[in-house]
Amino acid sequence: MQVKMAAVLSEHLLEGKLLVSTGCILAASLLVLRWRKRRQIRRRIEEERKRREESVRLMRKAIEKYHEQNPGVDGRGILELTLPELSQKLRDGALTPESVLYSYIEKALEVNDDLNCVTVFLGDCESQLKGLRDCSVRGPLYGIPVSIKEHVGYQGHPSTCGLVQYLDVLEEEDSFIVNVLKKQGAIVFTKTNVPQTLLSAETSNPIYGKTLNPHNKTKGPSGSSGGEAALIGGGGSILGIGTDLGGSIRLPSSACGIAGFKPTPNRLSTHGIRPCIDGMTAVPLCVGPMARDIDSLVLTMKALLCDELFKLDPNVPPLYFNEEKFSSVIPLRIGYYEEDGFFQPNPSMRRVLLETKKLLEEAGHQLVPFTPPRVDFAYYMFLKTALFSDEGKTVGDKFNNNIVDPNMEESHRLYKMSSGMKRFLAFCLRPIFPRMSRTLLSAVGARTVTNCWLDQTALQDYQTEFIREWRKLCLDVVLCPMLGPAFNIGYYGRLLAPISYTMLYNILQFPAGVVPVGSVTVDDEKDLKHYRGYNHDPWDKLFREAVADGVGLPLSIQCVALPYQDELCLRLMKEVETLSRRP
Ligand SMILES: *[C@@H]1O[C@H](CO)[C@@H](O)[C@H](O)[C@H]1NC(C)=O
Repeated sequence: MQVKMAAVLSEHLLEGKLLVSTGCILAASLLVLRWRKRRQIRRRIEEERKRREESVRLMRKAIEKYHEQNPGVDGRGILELTLPELSQKLRDGALTPESVLYSYIEKALEVNDDLNCVTVFLGDCESQLKGLRDCSVRGPLYGIPVSIKEHVGYQGHPSTCGLVQYLDVLEEEDSFIVNVLKKQGAIVFTKTNVPQTLLSAETSNPIYGKTLNPHNKTKGPSGSSGGEAALIGGGGSILGIGTDLGGSIRLPSSACGIAGFKPTPNRLSTHGIRPCIDGMTAVPLCVGPMARDIDSLVLTMKALLCDELFKLDPNVPPLYFNEEKFSSVIPLRIGYYEEDGFFQPNPSMRRVLLETKKLLEEAGHQLVPFTPPRVDFAYYMFLKTALFSDEGKTVGDKFNNNIVDPNMEESHRLYKMSSGMKRFLAFCLRPIFPRMSRTLLSAVGARTVTNCWLDQTALQDYQTEFIREWRKLCLDVVLCPMLGPAFNIGYYGRLLAPISYTMLYNILQFPAGVVPVGSVTVDDEKDLKHYRGYNHDPWDKLFREAVADGVGLPLSIQCVALPYQDELCLRLMKEVETLSRRP
């Protein structure tokens, strides 16, 4: 009896052992698989870096050859010309496209060595150059070298958004915007760096690394069009194409001291640009120009709003640039606000806003206080409808089989968190940190299609309400603060809330642009010490740290108009630039 029992027992034990060892083997093989997968990813990234290095090497060689064939040519004069001046000289024949292209590539190589802002130099720019020789009509962008943001489709190259799964997806054709640029004579010569997934303002990803700010390398260039802004701000490009879903053209333009314009959605074509969040239409992605000054933005908009664009993309309304609206001198009725009621601006942001307001008043415009309604609602709705409508699954899945960039770790966790966990944490945090609690609840998303449609209805109602307030005051345009100066490196990935200043005009679908005006002073820095924010919470503290040590960094203001009043928006931008540049 006892013997039998012992036998049964040992059999069970054996089974248990077997189970345990099978488990161990399984776990070990899973670990090995994971390790192999990661090694594979690292190898693929290594290959891509080699491809980039090779493109840099080829460009250096091309520059050498150019100098050998054209001894004594000095590109520095070329780099100092504004875009309209350069365009004129190229069309006159006073400068050759070749001399301009090589001057810019040489400078871009130098800036890239310094800031790591380029993801690839486009080897075919030399054949674009040859193509120009045969063209009889010289378009407005004839011979102008242009840089494009990494996810803007370019034939034969991937649009990765800093994610490895897209490295082997080579574009079969150019995006429409690249098509039109080329048609107008531009030479597209490089692609520029972005944050991983684009849904951050810290321009860093595991494939191409981190980009630095041209004004101070302890700062970030912001993002997501951060490589673009850094390259232009550093002088290595005269015109760039960026995209904007929550501020991605305006934030880096402000941080790098350049001008950037986000047009009304669909005024320019986004066809052939990899979307940040596939299928998300509640907040549309916009594409727009970035450059050193407003005249450059205007010249580019004029060049792009052409028959070629309207023919390529029938979804773009066939509206040419309205010169009359842009050059009108009738005084404007300008609404303005110093703060949005959701995130308190720092002293320097507020100071330049008030100084600009005063300049505009002195120039004969009418300035009217305007309170944007419910910006807190707008911010949480942006999270809920744009990023997390599906609980964050679409974005979360993009990280699968990737190395997660250290700057994306916090948001990655949020994209991957279960909704039960989000609710639980939201409940715990509510008494001490209400903004974090509301963020977590927004990140739960819509849950059902019915809720999703209700959210979108709420967004439409919000736009109606906003326009009603705007109309009540008979405003032409709005002047408002722009987030700045550039954050210290590492802070953009941890602090999303101050994008309330830019994302507002994405969810409203209004055109908006930024104009550089002045820089951080010693007094601003002193005042910053007293900054407490509206909520005295960890975000306010983080913000104070993020913008600290900013003396000398560029600042901007933001200009806004109603949908399809892009020219009016640019007009205000031009006025602000002229007034702020006057000695
Ligand atoms: C860059 O910023 C740091 C503080 O973050 C400051 O100490 C340094 O002086 C700045 N450099 C320049 C060139 O302004």
